[in-house]
Amino acid sequence: MKVLKIPIDEFFTNTLMQWHNRFNNRQMPWKGEKDPYKIWLSEIILQQTRVEQGLAYFEKFISTFPSIHDLAAAPDEKVYKLWEGLGYYSRCANLLITAREIIKTRNGAFPKTFDEVIALKGVGNYTASAIMSFAYNKPYAVVDGNVFRVLSRFFGIKKPIDSTEGKKYFAELSARLIHKKKPALYNQAIMDFGAVICKPALPLCDQCILNTHCIAYQSHIVSLLPVKEKKIKQQKRFFNYVVFTCGKKVLVRQRFSKDIWKNLYEFMLIESKASYTLKDFLSNDLVKPVVKNFIEINLSPIYKQKLTHQLISVAFLNIVIDEEIQFDEFVWVNKKQVQKLSFPRVIRTFFMDNKYL
Ligand code: ADE
Repeated sequence: MKVLKIPIDEFFTNTLMQWHNRFNNRQMPWKGEKDPYKIWLSEIILQQTRVEQGLAYFEKFISTFPSIHDLAAAPDEKVYKLWEGLGYYSRCANLLITAREIIKTRNGAFPKTFDEVIALKGVGNYTASAIMSFAYNKPYAVVDGNVFRVLSRFFGIKKPIDSTEGKKYFAELSARLIHKKKPALYNQAIMDFGAVICKPALPLCDQCILNTHCIAYQSHIVSLLPVKEKKIKQQKRFFNYVVFTCGKKVLVRQRFSKDIWKNLYEFMLIESKASYTLKDFLSNDLVKPVVKNFIEINLSPIYKQKLTHQLISVAFLNIVIDEEIQFDEFVWVNKKQVQKLSFPRVIRTFFMDNKYL
């Protein structure tokens, strides 16, 4: 490795800023944005979501709710509908709580200090730092997946990024590295650099302007970094939905339990240890009394939806009946209402496959 005339930290920050000024042409609608409301919204959307997927949602939210007043005043259903398909719906619940709180207690003025910002529901260290730097140009370094990857590779850090020690180490290193006069540009630069050059798979090391002093590159361990301590355990769950339809109406209910998909709508659910066959469905106590009078019955193939910690296999049994039987908590809705309600992605896909919409 060539000997450096300046400290390695300084080389990293300067070279990263150079890359940003000269080569970074990643376009995103919130770039250069100073309105804390819009920054907050974009960062909440991007918390568990790829930029490519988040873009369209950001645009929809900003055009429907141009200010925090508009968002706070909107009915829950409208906001959930706009969020549909993005996943992690607690983000949407927190968005509403926070917007309404800011209207009620601060007359709509977005908080300005780190302590106030991080106290907002749904805002953690990463999001608070992003808001403080992008909106107010304060030197709070973001530490997200991109940052872990870029720093672990460049500095050859093998501490697990999901350990307490690792998190503290990366946070301290990031705080040292951030450009103190241009924190917003630095934070944007490192995130874009992680997304465009120092990518998780197939990083563009050959064209990377940091490669002369990148420890991972020089020692051929790029693909081994960053290190994670725990492997994500995935729980397998089997959802069997009974889809009662009558004429143009379908029977649905809202989910309220502290489980996945809180506040979204679904059909009658039977959860089991394995996907139901037709025989399993027909012998279930919820279904048995109704099947005497069905007009048509259809079992779907198995649909799958992957969440971070769960893999959900979903079977749908459509039972067409000629009477709107009433069940506690359930409502019969027509196609227009189905359009307006928010459903988990897998149910929306089922609707589309079956031309309900
Ligand atoms: N991911 C989350 N926030 C981002 C931002 N402001 N720019 C690029 N990627 C991001």
